[in-house]
Amino acid sequence: MRIVLVGPPGAGKGTQAQFIASHLAIPKISTGDIFRYNVSQGTPLGRQAKEYMDRGDLVPDEVTIAMVRDRLGEEDAQDGFLLDGFPRNVPQAETLKKQLMDWDQRLTVVLELVVDEDEVVRRLSGRRTCRRCEHVWHIMFDPPTREGICDACGGELFQRDDDREETVRHRLEVYKKQTAPLVSYYADEGILIGIDATGPVEEVTERALAALRPFAR
Ligand code: AP5
Repeated sequence: MRIVLVGPPGAGKGTQAQFIASHLAIPKISTGDIFRYNVSQGTPLGRQAKEYMDRGDLVPDEVTIAMVRDRLGEEDAQDGFLLDGFPRNVPQAETLKKQLMDWDQRLTVVLELVVDEDEVVRRLSGRRTCRRCEHVWHIMFDPPTREGICDACGGELFQRDDDREETVRHRLEVYKKQTAPLVSYYADEGILIGIDATGPVEEVTERALAALRPFAR
């Protein structure tokens, strides 16, 4: 299956992506994770992306699209993938569609995670991420056993720079203006399904897998 996850910042895309991708045995491709890795390594791509990410703006399309094209061309993505955080605007969606057509492929389904704004702010303000394995925790909703330490690998947990309140508000505005139009774009293509992404993580995963089941080969 070729899946796109869409939803506002903090909707739980990264959290659900890891469970869905592992359940379906397809790679999870997160543009935010790839950018953050490059920032942490100080690569030219990371240096280019950092100023946009720190402000909560989108990284320019030409940079993002080239990066995703390279990743989708890799061997492990040939039989399916789950995209988390891409596409992020209609031009990215158009480019993705053309690229997949060139490869004789098409998206199977776009899964929208529906959550209201207050919940998103609660989720982002308590998010902590593992430096080592990138597992995502929440200090209230999904806390690790030991504060600041990842249960999965023992790594150190950190708060993302772009989870500061002002930046979160700006990211939500960017989402409304640039990314939310994708919902009607994919509805018009007839491949959009939306699920209620509130409630415990496991329940959201169950809803997501149930919604995706009819599309499985
Ligand atoms: P990116 O990393 O994609 O950020 P985002 O879309 O803003 O999404 P988040 O990662 O903030 O949230 P999420 O939906 O994954 O939620 P999560 O699962 O972590 O992008 C970062 C930046 O990179 C962008 O601002 C941009 O600059 C750049 N970028 C990336 N892609 C780009 C593109 N295509 N084009 C241009 N620029 C791009 O969950 C959040 C918290 O809630 C966690 O603590 C989690 O534990 C908790 N939680 C999750 N589910 C639940 C639940 N059901 N109940 C309670 N808590 C929950």
